[in-house]
Amino acid sequence: MSRDKRIGIIGTGSMGCMLIRSFLRGGAAVPQQLCASNRTPEAQDAIAAETGIQTADNNRTLVKNAGVIILCVRQPDVVPFTEEIADLLTDEKLLISVASDVSLSELEALTPARVVRVIPSATSEQLKGVSLIVFSERTTQADRERVISLFGAIGTPVVISEPDIESYTTLTSCAPAFFAEMVHEFAASATRMTGIPADEAEALARETFIGTAALLEVPGTACADIVSRVATPGGITEEGVNVLTCRFPAVCDEIFAATERKHASFRDASPDKENSGR
Ligand SMILES: NC(=O)c1ccc[n+]([C@@H]2O[C@H](COP(=O)([O-])OP(=O)(O)OC[C@H]3O[C@@H](n4cnc5c(N)ncnc54)[C@H](OP(=O)(O)O)[C@@H]3O)[C@@H](O)[C@H]2O)c1
Repeated sequence: MSRDKRIGIIGTGSMGCMLIRSFLRGGAAVPQQLCASNRTPEAQDAIAAETGIQTADNNRTLVKNAGVIILCVRQPDVVPFTEEIADLLTDEKLLISVASDVSLSELEALTPARVVRVIPSATSEQLKGVSLIVFSERTTQADRERVISLFGAIGTPVVISEPDIESYTTLTSCAPAFFAEMVHEFAASATRMTGIPADEAEALARETFIGTAALLEVPGTACADIVSRVATPGGITEEGVNVLTCRFPAVCDEIFAATERKHASFRDASPDKENSGR
């Protein structure tokens, strides 16, 4: 297989492993095409044993042998990684970074590679949800098509401009945690308020949430359609919907405000805050 077709994944933590499993499951890649390396080798060996992908002895070998590098390390590990392989990360490489809060300009200052930022979602493990994509000016049309095809196999790719990335990240990539927490809190309230045992409440709320998601999958179904179908005027459900419409907007606003404050704290700590794309 040509080097150009090979995809190297740096970092086999939660995101790296999710992408490996999803690319294989979604048919975006075959195991022989994927190679991983991780700071702690046990983690790369475990995902290789599970999926049949290759592993590299170190990051340098991996980068040398792949045309596309997907960087799945946390924000503070991006600079040490790029310094380690700086001479190999040439403009012949397509570098896809999934690290939050590392801007294109910061990446471009570290490497001549053709860089792309992608913010995936944990939901891609089920080949659903949204991957946010920001292309740098250095990418070619072929790069753009390749990235869209890769992430299109594991969900819906959405190309955005970099200044929008933080708010869109809250709306898509962070949201599975919010939705899961909401289901948990809803079930916990059932236990507090009605005495339904916690296990049973969570199982029922979860099943209902999954069913609601399936209803939303029917083309042309809006959230409002489900609300009006279930909450008949003057009925019991409408009472609960009224509580939500009265109290919930403020909670959601606070979620966006809190995540924005956290992004701002990362921006302030960035060595390149003047060029962070905001
Ligand atoms: N989780 C999500 O839903 C999500 C969504 C969108 C974006 N992201 C972003 O994805 C990135 C990774 O998140 P994560 O949740 O996967 O973190 P994680 O579970 O901590 O995984 C990071 C992995 O990177 C490895 N690593 C660090 N430095 C390395 C180096 N120089 N060479 C090779 N491997 C190295 C770590 O190895 P060790 O085993 O030695 O620690 C670890 O396995 C973060 O920037 C995060 O913001 C996450």
